[in-house]
Amino acid sequence: MSEPALDVVEFLLTARTYTDETALDANDLPPRYRRVFWDEKEDVDEGPAGGIERPLVVTETVARQATGVDRPWEAVSGLLFTDRDEFSGRLELTEPEMALSWALERCERERVATNPTLAHAVESADDPPFDVTREEARDQTRPIHADRVWIDALLEEYFDGEDEEDVEMLDLVNVRAPEEIETTLDDLVVTEDQEGEIGKIVTAIENREYLAEIGLREIGKLLFVGPPGTGKTTISRALAHELGLPFVEVKLSMITSQYLGETAKNVERTFEVAKRLSPCILFIDEFDSVAKSRGSDEHAALKRAVNTLLKSIDDISLIRDEVLLIGATNHPDQLDAAAWRRFDEIVNFPKPDREMRADILRVITRQMEIAEFDPDEVATKTTGLTGSDLRMVLREAVLEALTDGRRTLTQADVMDAVSDFEERDNLKNMDMIDGDADAMVAGDGGHDHDHDHSHD
Ligand SMILES: Nc1ncnc2c1ncn2[C@@H]1O[C@H](COP(=O)(O)OP(=O)(O)O)[C@@H](O)[C@H]1O
Ligand SMILES: [Mg+2]
Repeated sequence: MSEPALDVVEFLLTARTYTDETALDANDLPPRYRRVFWDEKEDVDEGPAGGIERPLVVTETVARQATGVDRPWEAVSGLLFTDRDEFSGRLELTEPEMALSWALERCERERVATNPTLAHAVESADDPPFDVTREEARDQTRPIHADRVWIDALLEEYFDGEDEEDVEMLDLVNVRAPEEIETTLDDLVVTEDQEGEIGKIVTAIENREYLAEIGLREIGKLLFVGPPGTGKTTISRALAHELGLPFVEVKLSMITSQYLGETAKNVERTFEVAKRLSPCILFIDEFDSVAKSRGSDEHAALKRAVNTLLKSIDDISLIRDEVLLIGATNHPDQLDAAAWRRFDEIVNFPKPDREMRADILRVITRQMEIAEFDPDEVATKTTGLTGSDLRMVLREAVLEALTDGRRTLTQADVMDAVSDFEERDNLKNMDMIDGDADAMVAGDGGHDHDHDHSHD
């Protein structure tokens, strides 16, 4: 349980210690504190357009933002070692050592072990109540390069916005901070094969230095292959969240269709962005959309782009550049050998089997109330549906029930939604048979939809 006074004292102690100990750097501050001390800089030649500068000055507003405590001064004004400057509104510790003892009497080891600056103070204290090291706490703390403010500052520096092309490029590349990713690996049902591959990559990242030492550099390029809606994008994002890495996402079709002449340059820049944000995950979606055109004699600009893409893939390395490359494709048949060869692991994303569908249904409905819910029955009736389809089925069931004025679903609601979904699916297929794909049913079956609406 958090206690407002302790939260504020921890914050004051951290600000004070950080200000005094110049050996500490931004990675010693917990991310929630970094955010409030981040300063934007106007003119920088190198590095991101911002940083954290000493001294760290704490006002009521700053303390409120960092701790979430509504009235920070009120929370600590009764303590002997705190003070507020009436004029500047600055909150301070008059007796930092007393403050540290006070805090250590009240807090658990866990709190210190996730705050490297505080851990440093404890480590150097006379009679610490528990053993904790700054190193340990740093390992527990997300590095600053994964913070939103850092990413934004770096992008701003790199694409300074004066050049119109730069701005356009930013529209093509979508960068997410790990903190902004909501779906985690726990929310996904994965096959054994997928689990194995993910485990391998996590291990490789943890042992980067060793792999470099023994000269194993050709590792860390994954190709996710499978029909739409099988979780390729979501797993990649969840991996970024899990590893605490920024997630750089590009849709290759956008890069090629909108700026054909600039395509090769845009591809190059995408890889540069990833290298600048490293360590990070670079996710290239719709990988087939460039690779497929290699054979046919297309526009020269497009050919150049494809060659640039293949070369960029060759040049990037998880071990050297700390960029994990993940390509995804719904159309593996359209990739040529040259493209395949560049990935060291191919991960299959099949449509889920009955058991997996039941598991996916359990995950999707975790927060829902469904009377007599029988996921196995639903799974039996949904052969051929993907995880994304199942989400849609449940969404329809929820909306139908809501229209009826109910928040508790029944198994029958879910089964009805399954039948509706199948009907729509049939319509869609009929259209395809007529060969009139353009005139496809209004509000299509949803197979090709990006359901999370997050790509803005
Ligand atoms: N195996 C799965 N387990 C849980 N949810 C899944 C699974 N596969 C797909 N989904 C859900 O379907 C939606 C779409 O998945 P997505 O990752 O966009 O698929 P893809 O990138 O393969 O087209 C996501 O919201 C995801 O939560
Ligand atoms: Mg996708």
